[in-house]
Amino acid sequence: MQMVDLINKKKYGDELSHDEIKFIIDGYTKGLIPDYQMSAFLMSVYFNGMTTDESTALALAMRDSGDVLDLSDITGTKVDKHSTGGVGDKVSIVLAPLVAYLGAKLAKMSGRGLGHTGGTIDKLESIPGFQVELPLGKFKDQVNEIGCAIVGQSGDIAPADKLIYALRDVTATVDSIPLIASSIMSKKLASGADAIVLDVKVGSGAFMKTLEDARKLSKLMVEIGKKAGKKVSAILTSMEEPLGYKIGNALEIYESIETLEGHGPEDLTEIVCVITGHLLKDSGVVKDYEAGYKLAYETLKSGAALPKFYEFVKAQNGDVNFLKNKDEILTKTKQHKLYAKADGYLEKVDALKVGLAGMKLGAGRATKEDKINLFVGIDLHIKIGDKIKKGDLICTLYHDEKGLVDAIELIESSYIIGPNKRHLKLVEEMIV
Ligand code: URA
Repeated sequence: MQMVDLINKKKYGDELSHDEIKFIIDGYTKGLIPDYQMSAFLMSVYFNGMTTDESTALALAMRDSGDVLDLSDITGTKVDKHSTGGVGDKVSIVLAPLVAYLGAKLAKMSGRGLGHTGGTIDKLESIPGFQVELPLGKFKDQVNEIGCAIVGQSGDIAPADKLIYALRDVTATVDSIPLIASSIMSKKLASGADAIVLDVKVGSGAFMKTLEDARKLSKLMVEIGKKAGKKVSAILTSMEEPLGYKIGNALEIYESIETLEGHGPEDLTEIVCVITGHLLKDSGVVKDYEAGYKLAYETLKSGAALPKFYEFVKAQNGDVNFLKNKDEILTKTKQHKLYAKADGYLEKVDALKVGLAGMKLGAGRATKEDKINLFVGIDLHIKIGDKIKKGDLICTLYHDEKGLVDAIELIESSYIIGPNKRHLKLVEEMIV
């Protein structure tokens, strides 16, 4: 087989076989195929797309380029969830103890934040002592014993994807649906869960700006998962505004605790319950999604899963007193308050700008090497559809002076207050 022939084949829109795709991925990972040929291949995929079979072959070849976790020592169905990345997305932190409390097993690898979206691992690290690196044996024991564990991506998960993603970044080929789907699924399939729920974000603060693209991506990922023998479902959820009110690492832990106490933001509660509903059904804990959703909602509202959160944090060496004294989180930085300049309804919040404001304050990274401040961030106080009077408090910035002026400008330009009461549809669709 010659790489030049395979590039040609894709250039003319012909379908590549599993063996041909494996040849490309293995060759590139081993350094036998140079960047210029891989770049030409990626660009031909960008323009000609891939069939579901090709995308599946690509996901599997990238999965098999590194470690594939064997979680068979954990009893029962192992579940996982993945979000395509949003602003204020703290779903995993609430969902892990909830799912575990209700009797399913969540074994999750998460990432760090980059750009305007935060990462679950950074958020958990704002809890003093919390260990995000666990040896595989301890990770599995913890899931067996208490029902959940969340660790950083370790070992050599899908190294081919890392290499190809870096090349896509500099060849303008990131925004290709088959490349995104196979990239995400290669890592999810390598992480060893039996059932996965994908939360595909749609809107200004998301990777997928339109419902149509989000739907295509979701359907393809569900198909890839099915062909790989996993139970995969996807929910398409709005990222027209940040999730919940708080953005920033420790601030998001604060809001996660509020949600586990039973009085969290409605949108966060809703997404947690929708995903939990699917995972409980896939685990056989309940007979259908509706029963799973109801159980999740009632449990969250009762506060019953909060002790499981403490147990999970303690198991990973985190300081539970930090959680019990959560109000201290709000005292660690200076505060700057913003007030409404007009009467009306909040019609729009640009989630991307809010995410960037958080980054300017130091809550997120512009490059992988940047250091973050775990306590800075934003509390938005209002959601789309809320009625506002001139002079109302609309936002508190938690800051250490760094980036404050830029963040204020971004937040002020991200709010649109007008005469129309808008209702945001949070869960756009479910693909099961
Ligand atoms: N996230 C991924 O993991 N891969 C992509 O290609 C895009 C987003």
